[in-house]
Amino acid sequence: YTVDWDVTAAEKGGYEWFMVKEIEEQPKAVADTLLGRTDPDGLLQLDEMRLSDDELREIDKIIIIACGTASYAGLVAKYAIEHWTRIPCEVELASEFRYRDPIIDRATLVVAISQSGETMDTLMAIRYARQQRARVLSICNTNGSTIPRESDAVIYTHAGPEVAVASTKGFLSQVVACYLLGLYLAQVKGVKYGDEVRVIIDELEQIPAKVQRMLDDGDQVRKLAAELVDRRSFLFLGRHVGYPVALEGALKLKELAYVHAEGFAAGELKHGPIALVEKGLPMFVIVPPRARDQLQEKIVSNIQEVRARGAYTIVLVEDGDDSVVPFADVVIRLPKVPTLLQPLVAAVPLQIFACELAELLGHDVDQPRNLAKSVTVE
Ligand code: AGP
Repeated sequence: YTVDWDVTAAEKGGYEWFMVKEIEEQPKAVADTLLGRTDPDGLLQLDEMRLSDDELREIDKIIIIACGTASYAGLVAKYAIEHWTRIPCEVELASEFRYRDPIIDRATLVVAISQSGETMDTLMAIRYARQQRARVLSICNTNGSTIPRESDAVIYTHAGPEVAVASTKGFLSQVVACYLLGLYLAQVKGVKYGDEVRVIIDELEQIPAKVQRMLDDGDQVRKLAAELVDRRSFLFLGRHVGYPVALEGALKLKELAYVHAEGFAAGELKHGPIALVEKGLPMFVIVPPRARDQLQEKIVSNIQEVRARGAYTIVLVEDGDDSVVPFADVVIRLPKVPTLLQPLVAAVPLQIFACELAELLGHDVDQPRNLAKSVTVE
């Protein structure tokens, strides 16, 4: 007997593309990244944290460095980390960091985010940071890879292997790991470790089920991709933590569908991007939860402005918020979550949209042209 045995097909577990499989694995990636990291009293424990609590208490500045999607996870994390820890936190592209003479010392915590752990720009940036005596903590998905080996501490994301070039479960688990770091630092410093943080931990534990709901609702987005398959330009708007989600939505479309896509902070609209708006231009808008009433109102007026100029508005908004419905061509519903956790649900339909559009265009979803999974040259 001979048996036809295709290793790649077996690894894909019945899915046509790794990316589709990895999108579907996100509830588990989030749950596994949280698993075992709180004790019965709800206190966080991070066992690969090789920096002592005393060392962490000395930290007076955090600089997150990363590339691409990982840098967007860092941008999301900045909002949460500063809010919970009151430690100033900057986010910088790894490729820019060491060429600008950054001010870092022993009290700086440099956080390197990398799915692969092998990205050359990020590796060179942490080497530079350590030469300057900064402490380096990496957030990484690949056990034993170079970046965590060269770091003082590591928090692993437990997303499982990510094969598709476009990062999906990597992104969600990076945001979760950054949040664990932020909550841990808040706990260690004794800052703001009140009810809000406990609520966030409870809410994080509900995220896998909420991500699953976004997956179950995926057909709406797949139909939308079929409807918009001939468009060559897309804009994404968000603010607060929705801004990096807009950047991530645009990056996914560029890399997979090879179309022009740009993400903007919604507040910047009138400072230039609105000039791009013309009849039929698809615009994704991520609306902050209603609890953030001031932000929410501002973005609703942005949606009105672009709609009045003919944009085709695709609005991601939480359940029960009907304020945008009159100005939305398409409404994508998000489960209710605290604002800081919204990226974990809002990114999912944008991933599905980009994946579906690429497939409809006949592109190789897992291996987009000109790209490598891990960029090991500078
Ligand atoms: C994401 O879809 C990209 N393929 C890319 O931006 C990636 O996130 C970036 O190269 C960083 O990779 P890393 O997380 O392995 O360091």
